[in-house]
Amino acid sequence: RPHLALHAMDGLVMEEVPLARIAAEVGTPAWVYSAGALRRRARALKAALTGAGLTATVHFAMKCNDNLAVLKVLAGEGLGADVVSEGELRISRAAGIPASGIVFSGVGKTADEIRHALEEDIFQINAESVEEIEMISAIAAGMGRTARVAIRVNPDVDAKTHAKITTGKSENKFGVAISDAAAIYARMAALPGIEPIGIATHIGSQITSGMAAYRAAYARLAELVKALRADGLPVQRVDCGGGLGISYRDEPAPSPEALAGAIRATLGELDLPVMLEPGRWIAGPAGVLLASVVLQKQGAAHRFVVVDAAMNDLVRPAMYEAWHGIVPVSSVQAVAPLTAAEVVGPVCESGDTFARGRMLPSLVTGDVVAFLDAGAYGAVMSSTYNARPLAPEVLVDGDRFAVVRARQTHDALLHGQQVPPWLAA
Ligand code: LLP
Repeated sequence: RPHLALHAMDGLVMEEVPLARIAAEVGTPAWVYSAGALRRRARALKAALTGAGLTATVHFAMKCNDNLAVLKVLAGEGLGADVVSEGELRISRAAGIPASGIVFSGVGKTADEIRHALEEDIFQINAESVEEIEMISAIAAGMGRTARVAIRVNPDVDAKTHAKITTGKSENKFGVAISDAAAIYARMAALPGIEPIGIATHIGSQITSGMAAYRAAYARLAELVKALRADGLPVQRVDCGGGLGISYRDEPAPSPEALAGAIRATLGELDLPVMLEPGRWIAGPAGVLLASVVLQKQGAAHRFVVVDAAMNDLVRPAMYEAWHGIVPVSSVQAVAPLTAAEVVGPVCESGDTFARGRMLPSLVTGDVVAFLDAGAYGAVMSSTYNARPLAPEVLVDGDRFAVVRARQTHDALLHGQQVPPWLAA
């Protein structure tokens, strides 16, 4: 994480901005993203793909971070977007991502969403079932448009990641069975309003187990492309999905070069452009969640550090037993003696626990800590549970920083709520 450094005076600094300063000016909890890290990681991915001799486009999976300023930074690096809803499609366009860089994924796109995607004339729709393909055909034909559609194939490989985020096994809801894919592709070619454009897959997220699962999936895709070509069905590109894992703790994580090499080795001979839909690898390490210590209390069995962020902000520990580094922002604390602590939020559930037995210095009210690697699947997954306003988002860029999404107000929590007339009196 070259964008984060511990300075003797300023404590933990992101690029050139002390995080303590952001906490003081913006308050906590607050999400903070490094524009420099986003740019560097986007470039590293693109360089790995071109370095492997691939013609490739990168479509940021914005479900992991849909902040407008973050998307703007990535748009500036020439990234497209992988969207999964009309909402994401609209935000990506607002961030200046051209329609020609947008791919629409998802197992349950509604007719309205498909219509909107066709109006915008996006690059590609990844269809996940025959039923969806028929729906797209009917809508596109009715609009006098042609939808560029890729079929998402479920390659039935085990990505060996958390069960809640594995997607490429035959029992998962995603994609069409690889054994049915050729017939579905042929059917698609015969339907009005559709141009069959290629095939897609995505086998899961936070893949850290090496390249075996990727290779197995892509090798199956290569077979499929050859079979389609033999049947006279053109394939223009292959969407390789996302999923590249990052090191949250000290687990080894594969490099973009390894992924690019796996793509090259399995799909290279097809001589087709490839697409990648990375989310976490680009944005995860680029962001932190700042929280202040509300109090430290000694329980019967543990020392509890109660912070002002909670599971409604960062749900990953509660939802996936995920591990996030937690570091004090002050340089004094960084060298203080460490003892085990439970780091918890104020929400009324035992699951509102960020870490157990975490080695931390003694902390007092007002001390600020940073939850690391919170740039992906952080803010986007937050809720207002316990009527807690959504935390603000901040972008750091060199020696500058700006609030890029204001803290939600308490008034906003009441917005749109109304009491029916018979209760109002
Ligand atoms: N493409 C598709 C079709 C996807 O479903 C996903 C993620 C991606 C790309 C991006 O995957 P990535 O490169 O970020 O691994 N909330 C979970 C992760 C859910 C991932 C869902 N799909 C978490 O916090 O770990």
